[in-house]
Amino acid sequence: MPVSFDDRAKLFHLSTRNTSYVFYVDNSLRLFHLYYGAALRDAFPLTGQQPDFWPASFSPVVNGEELSRSPDYRLQELAGFNQGDFRPAGVVLQTANGAVAADLHYFGHRVIPGKPRLEGLPSAFAAEGEAETVEITLRDKAAAVEVILAYTVFPACDVIVRSARAVNTGSAPVVLERLLSAQLDFDEADFDVVHLQGSWARERHPVRNRQIPGGQQLRSVRGATGHHQNPAVALCRPDTSEEAGDAWGLVLAYSGDYLVDVDTGQYGTTRVSAGINPETFSWTIEPGAAFTAPEVYLTFSACGLGRMSRNFHRFLRSHVISPRWAFKQRPILINNWEATYFDFNAQKIIDIARSGAELGIEMLVLDDGWFGKRDDDRSSLGDWVAYSRKIGDIGDLVRGVNHAGMKFGLWFEPEMVSPDSDLCRAHPDWVLQIPGRGRCLGRNQYVLDFSRDEVVDHVFKMIAKILHSADIVYMKWDFNRNLTEVFSPSLLPARQGKVRHRFVLGVYRLYRMLLAEFPDLLIEGCSGGGGRFDAGILAYSPQIWCSDDTDAMERLAIQTGTSLFYPPSSMGAHVSVCPNHMTGRTVPFATRGYVALAGTFGYELDLTKMSPEDRATAKEQIALYHRWHDLVECGDYYRLLPERLEDVEKARLVAWSFVAPDRRRATVTFVCRSQLVHAPDPKVFLRGLDPERLYKVNYGKFAYELVGGLLMSAGLRVRDCNRDGAAAFITLES
Ligand code: DGJ
Repeated sequence: MPVSFDDRAKLFHLSTRNTSYVFYVDNSLRLFHLYYGAALRDAFPLTGQQPDFWPASFSPVVNGEELSRSPDYRLQELAGFNQGDFRPAGVVLQTANGAVAADLHYFGHRVIPGKPRLEGLPSAFAAEGEAETVEITLRDKAAAVEVILAYTVFPACDVIVRSARAVNTGSAPVVLERLLSAQLDFDEADFDVVHLQGSWARERHPVRNRQIPGGQQLRSVRGATGHHQNPAVALCRPDTSEEAGDAWGLVLAYSGDYLVDVDTGQYGTTRVSAGINPETFSWTIEPGAAFTAPEVYLTFSACGLGRMSRNFHRFLRSHVISPRWAFKQRPILINNWEATYFDFNAQKIIDIARSGAELGIEMLVLDDGWFGKRDDDRSSLGDWVAYSRKIGDIGDLVRGVNHAGMKFGLWFEPEMVSPDSDLCRAHPDWVLQIPGRGRCLGRNQYVLDFSRDEVVDHVFKMIAKILHSADIVYMKWDFNRNLTEVFSPSLLPARQGKVRHRFVLGVYRLYRMLLAEFPDLLIEGCSGGGGRFDAGILAYSPQIWCSDDTDAMERLAIQTGTSLFYPPSSMGAHVSVCPNHMTGRTVPFATRGYVALAGTFGYELDLTKMSPEDRATAKEQIALYHRWHDLVECGDYYRLLPERLEDVEKARLVAWSFVAPDRRRATVTFVCRSQLVHAPDPKVFLRGLDPERLYKVNYGKFAYELVGGLLMSAGLRVRDCNRDGAAAFITLES
């Protein structure tokens, strides 16, 4: 039973294949956390194992309860506020009398098969028998609010999904000042914190630091996930490595302002909190109404960060990303952005398509510049009608590309509007702006007020019209600036705290409308590269453009970092031209291909200008894609080098591997970023193979037959790869 409840101890035990999550209701009817870690056969004895504590008078107890029971150090499932726990709150309510507090007591629970969907939000799903959910109703009597904590257990993935919902059961409005999705308390405070950090074109580099006294926050107030940090975190023990030691992972499925907080309490506790960022949020719940916080995905691995990542990969592919795409090879695409930027016409696009079709590329994506009067980034966003003077009739262009042997995809930036656009001239009030204040431009554009339904409806109509007008099977959804001057005239002054979350709900609604109208549409997420790479977007976009930095050497850190929480099959990765437009670096064409083959594969260069040698190599890459890429979609991913993930930014050697679920086939990609002169050929220790199985190992001119156990224990010596930028794509078959 994934969810079990012990009536004697009022103890909930959530069990997955390898983990246990335990909490209970105490005599005061509060919900306290007991344990999250390796699977326990019997959780009951935990109740006698709680630490005794002699409280200082500065850690209060409620209503004459036992002195050793201060809420200030006990482990909570979702903490209230202004009731004796001075650590970060999970729920904060303001009632009509102005009081700001929350104190939650257990009222009841129900266990339901499967996984209910969240309304309006990205939501994990489960087929019958794949998951079980327990919903626990807590009550704040004084505020007349119920908070329902939902826990869905996915035993096969070792993942627990949490979310929270607040319902106003009273007769007066209540202001929700914060409702986090989940908190995870530990009675220790000696962890390493692993997370992703970066900027535009340097997204999601992995960082590992010792837990900081006081605390550490990952956050966004950008109205989007942002390039700077990512709404996901791992805690592990200081000696946890890729393949050994305890690691706890948390991924928030949300694409707006978020908070992931690792708080170190004064009594040696740790509280990890995650949810919508309360800094920019407040939500009035009318009597009878409810508010739902987004989902959080939790996993625990006793086998290092590698297993933690694989748990998330399996879970996101099986239960978040649409089954229509999750395990499928996506079309190999050629995107014209780095090939032409804004400087193209129909003939140029057709020429690229023809050239790509000869190589075996399957889809042409027409990027920014096809609409309105857009010849640079200063106009036309919002005017989603073809720029016929530039590209002729869009139907003809799509047919021309199809005729060349390619599918057709198109770029949009739905939430944006240029000051110089018909849309902005017709509806200046649709722009996010604060009356009496200036408006920030970002990339010469404004953000539309997606908190308003009529704005989202209008954008939907325009995009749908274009998509209906021709055979367009893919959409690249870009988002090239963040939100400023967040205010909506459609809401009362006291309701302005809703705008940012409503904006995100508007984005999700547009996604759902488009997918309802065009169920086969493949939508690739994008935000100036990877500025909105999160599990919320993955629920609608099976792939997200990883970064505008397409330099293969830079991508090593970006893609490896992203793999900490997200599956490689969701990372948009393309081969681009050298010297690279971002870094000026030249990397061998073969290496560029091997790095891009670790994500959703494609090209982003002027195919009509490629050398015959590069064309021949591209054909080989495409053949590799067809033969081996199912391992990226369906296999297990192992980070092999560097040994410590956080060293990847500077590591001389980087290697990873994909292993088929039946362990009969595998690939290893080995990249030498910089050579070590006169050093022996480097070795890489493989992982995840069948130790007894004999594998045929092939790369370049090398071929061996080696047993899995040997490849994992003694390692594989990689020949001919000690040159700056050299790489090997090693295949294993048995
Ligand atoms: C940012 C994206 O990341 C690029 O790939 C490209 O689509 C440009 N925007 C177009 O403006």
